[in-house]
Amino acid sequence: MTKLLTLTFTAIFMTVPASTGVTAEEAATSTRLHTLKNSNGMEVTVTNYGAIITSMLTADRDGNLADVALGHRTAAEYIAASEKPYFGAVVGRFGNRIAEGTFTLDGETYTLATNNGDNHLHGGNVGFDKVIWDVKSASDQSIHLTYVAKDMEEGYPGNLSVSVTYTLTDENQLVVDYAATTDKATPVNLTQHTYFNLAGEGNGTVLDHEVMLNADRFTPVDSGLIPTGELRSVKDTPFDFTSPKSIGRDIETENEQLALGKGYDHNWVLNKGVSATELTLAAVVYDPATGRVLTVSTTEPGVQFYTGNFLTGTLTGKSGKTYSHRGGFCLETQHFPDSPNQPDFPSTILAPGEKYESQTVFAFSAR
Ligand code: BGC
Repeated sequence: MTKLLTLTFTAIFMTVPASTGVTAEEAATSTRLHTLKNSNGMEVTVTNYGAIITSMLTADRDGNLADVALGHRTAAEYIAASEKPYFGAVVGRFGNRIAEGTFTLDGETYTLATNNGDNHLHGGNVGFDKVIWDVKSASDQSIHLTYVAKDMEEGYPGNLSVSVTYTLTDENQLVVDYAATTDKATPVNLTQHTYFNLAGEGNGTVLDHEVMLNADRFTPVDSGLIPTGELRSVKDTPFDFTSPKSIGRDIETENEQLALGKGYDHNWVLNKGVSATELTLAAVVYDPATGRVLTVSTTEPGVQFYTGNFLTGTLTGKSGKTYSHRGGFCLETQHFPDSPNQPDFPSTILAPGEKYESQTVFAFSAR
């Protein structure tokens, strides 16, 4: 099941500059694709470059399989893509934004890359999406990947040992388990950045998809998409997805927060009930055209619902179709953006001796 990436994949990799985090030699010898397959024919393909999910074959209401995950055809395209969409990647050490790329921890101020305007995004210039992970074990339905981020890598304190396990169950669930330990206190916020189009990657926009988010509140942002600190009710706003509605229904409404996000690009505060860390429902997405349903559950307190607002129609996907504006959506389960600077948000600080553990389940069905 595990195989070397194709010749084109590795050959193009040879021209990749070292600043991307991968040397040509590493790329040529260390990248792999591994396909998970269950008894229903569902398939998920993963590469150890960025722990990226490169494809997800799921059935529609008639049992026809289609690839519902946006992605590139070659490793070189993942590295060179001008828009840097983070297709399918594991994002870290800190997913989402940290204001002005700085935070103070235990009296020490740390400076991170500002790779998103004035702010730090998705772990910096060479985040976990741009490094080669070790494949510790792989079987027909599971793959376990690890990565050790060095002390001060991308400016973060502490040697951080991270693992991600993808498990495909016979119930058509992709279970993503994250774990991490550190030798110095450090912020950690890992997430999965797959863009879904339940009609199949490259098949138009996702504006007709119907979405339910299990969240009564969201975190409004400033012009740099940094949360203001407020937890605002979604009631009577375009941000109310407590009952299913199409993504497109309110997305063009005149609204300050929609204008700032250029659409939906916000963190919703999940309704967690009694235990803040138990696995709870985050979102249900339904594509009326194909009947595919994606149900997302997570132990995390938040989810970034991002509607592909920065896709411009210039990237060509795996099957040769271009990815249109809003041609995919992400449900990035996470702690809230900028948590290291927001004392009232749930803490993202991992201390030595503690274990970071987080689980998200992407379950597929059709109706
Ligand atoms: C962010 C978007 C960003 C996208 C790709 C999302 O998590 O919220 O603003 O464009 O990732 O980087």
